[in-house]
Amino acid sequence: MKYAEIISQMTLEEKASLMSGKDFWQTQDIQRFGINNIFLADGPHGIRKQEAAADHLGLNSSVPATCFPTAATVANSWNVELGQKIGEYLGEEAVSQKVNVLLGPGINMKRNPLCGRNFEYFSEDPYLTGKMAAGYIRGIQSHGISACVKHFCVNNQEERRMSINTIVDERALREIYLTAFEIAVKEGKTKALMSSYNMLNGTYTNENMHLMHDILRGEWNYKGCVITDWGGSNDRVAGLIAGNELEMPTTAGETNEEIIQAIKSEKIKEDVLDQSVDRLLELIFTTEEVYKKAHKKFDMQEHHRVAQEVAEESIVLLKNEENILPLKNGTKVAVIGDFAKEARYQGAGSSVVNPTILDHTLDCFEESRIVSIGYETGFERYGKKSNKRIDRACELAKEADVILLYIGLDEVTEAEGLDRQNMNISDNQIELLNALQKVNQNIVAILSCGCAVEMPWINKVKGLLHGYLSGQAGAKAIIRVLSGDVNPSGKLTETYPIHYEDTPSFKNFPGKEVSVEYREGIYIGYRYYDAANVEVRFPFGYGLSYTTFEYSCIEVNKNGVTFKLTNSGSTQGMEIAQLYVGCKSENIFRAKKELKGFVKIFINAGETKSVTIPFDDKTFRYFNIKTNKWEVEASEYKIMIGASSADIRLKDTIFMEGSGAPLPYDKDKLTSYYSGKVNNVVTEEFENLIGCKVPVSTWDRTKPLGYNDTIAQCKYAKGLFARFAFNMIVFAYWFLRKIGKRSTANIIMMSIYHMPFRGIARMTGGALNIPMLNGILMIVNGHFFKGLNHLLKERSKMVKAAKAKKIA
Ligand code: BGC
Repeated sequence: MKYAEIISQMTLEEKASLMSGKDFWQTQDIQRFGINNIFLADGPHGIRKQEAAADHLGLNSSVPATCFPTAATVANSWNVELGQKIGEYLGEEAVSQKVNVLLGPGINMKRNPLCGRNFEYFSEDPYLTGKMAAGYIRGIQSHGISACVKHFCVNNQEERRMSINTIVDERALREIYLTAFEIAVKEGKTKALMSSYNMLNGTYTNENMHLMHDILRGEWNYKGCVITDWGGSNDRVAGLIAGNELEMPTTAGETNEEIIQAIKSEKIKEDVLDQSVDRLLELIFTTEEVYKKAHKKFDMQEHHRVAQEVAEESIVLLKNEENILPLKNGTKVAVIGDFAKEARYQGAGSSVVNPTILDHTLDCFEESRIVSIGYETGFERYGKKSNKRIDRACELAKEADVILLYIGLDEVTEAEGLDRQNMNISDNQIELLNALQKVNQNIVAILSCGCAVEMPWINKVKGLLHGYLSGQAGAKAIIRVLSGDVNPSGKLTETYPIHYEDTPSFKNFPGKEVSVEYREGIYIGYRYYDAANVEVRFPFGYGLSYTTFEYSCIEVNKNGVTFKLTNSGSTQGMEIAQLYVGCKSENIFRAKKELKGFVKIFINAGETKSVTIPFDDKTFRYFNIKTNKWEVEASEYKIMIGASSADIRLKDTIFMEGSGAPLPYDKDKLTSYYSGKVNNVVTEEFENLIGCKVPVSTWDRTKPLGYNDTIAQCKYAKGLFARFAFNMIVFAYWFLRKIGKRSTANIIMMSIYHMPFRGIARMTGGALNIPMLNGILMIVNGHFFKGLNHLLKERSKMVKAAKAKKIA
């Protein structure tokens, strides 16, 4: 242990006190050892440092900071150096605000397009996600502070995220859901990692020995800290055993006491605590070094400029019929759509940033060569169809050469804590598009949202630019792409299905009661559409440019692949070339191709460049569930270089010697997986895959409710009072939506309805402890007076104890 000397002088109480927060955002300090508290702050695309009222839902304001484009946006740049640069700028701002641990990046896989938090995550591909995340982490940590990669792991739905049990097979877990974390740990060298709220195969991730002990600490040799997601600690002692150093936020000492008792009763050895304290001290001491130097304020204008540069590289051009873009000099445009006035530039929830500056589309035309002849809203963001607004928009549209139509998803539809209900853009926006198309066909749609949407309307537009959530400088970045000052170079990092029903997890998302089954196994995103031959709207890796690129001269050797890229158009631009690998053997089921490398390269018009993409330890590996190890199958492998996953330009093969492992599967028992058609896997076959019975996925309505049951389950509670409270919550939700307060209604859903009872104790900073919660549970389970009596008794005990502590 590095800090053995200090630790040996600490009392048991002092050591335990470090294991949970001092308040909502800070760790505990012990001044007699020079241990200061450190500050943890959200979030992945800007700093959300709350100095007054604290919350984890983005409700209260924070100190102004640059709002960079969200991860879903930056991923489209496929530029790891750019990720690192954002990290550096985020790190600088964090330091200027005295933040020691920046709670990001978020790197969960986009298993399903409806996950409410997809805007905060990079991709459906683990390799790309891991590489981008490692860039962010290197950048953030270059300032001496710590990143905190999250949410470890399989947190792929928002609803019921604090209690859902994710059932996933070991191979999919390793290949799809853990690879990005592995890269973040090994290459990014993250100093901190946040455990997710949910369970993994029956155990909360924070307590899951297989995940935390065997894989994270064992196989990946992770030496950093594990921090719980806010209020995500279940059994504190089990968490400690699994290697959780820090529970957040504070529990006012309640769970520290549990640790003390566990050691005193010899349930665990004191050494387990000492090891955790040692790792936490390393985080505390190393991340405060930077504050020994003097710091200047960050340059707001410069950071805003970088936010714009990042957005410019991340915008994706999806359609460009008749080369409607870039707009010719002096084109007269009608600007239509509410999103032009009120940009949608970031997501909602714990990642919300209070921007330092905010560019507005309508102010940005003057500087460009585009001539705006006027603006009309055309629709109400949260309202119904408005004929008046549509008529006014059509009048304006008649006068224009081109319509710039700003559409997207509103702030309430796409938010942390809730999943989307469908993949649609709201009807009133599409009705406007239909009307506009009748008066002027030159329509360029500009889309603002952080996720994939269905586009049955796509034939109505000639141009389509996806800005994703492009941060505080996104408005200008978009106009610079429209005008041709910037040649678009982003490509999608998630597939756009034609219909939501086409997605592989359609039948298994979200988990509605106890669990969610990942029946599609390794086949998420393009891995599925490819293998099952399902037509998509836009494939993974797709994006257009104002120029064209030609690929030639592929050469493959054991170290990697080399080829030539020519810019065959008349404008300079950047191309993202993608390396996909497919195994020719059919012994083990596999995706037809998997991304194993990529490069983003700038090329002048007419120029040719030679490009090399090296192979690495992930190029040919697969996870063998028999040997419980990564193996390589002896086989011929297809080496494919593509402009997207569906546009392979060059092909070759290479034979790889295998690692000689036994074949892991019985083909006859896994026919869906061998065919890739996994959207309807029956229970028996899924059980063959996971190697055990699936747990019952529905609530046992006969059992009394306990700590880990959610407030939503009060629906069938024995206690009349609990059922009444449940109905009140449902009514409040309905009523708030009815009067247009959708955002407040959502907060009820995420912070009350889906909250497990234990969360009441974990999230109230000690105002309500576990013994008091026991009283509440008695009431819920039908023992009203006994419960109330218990609750009041425990409350007065707590108040007395607090008074005694004050006097002492
Ligand atoms: C989110 C985390 C966030 C934390 C603190 C949680 O609800 O899941 O991503 O870092 O709150 O705000």
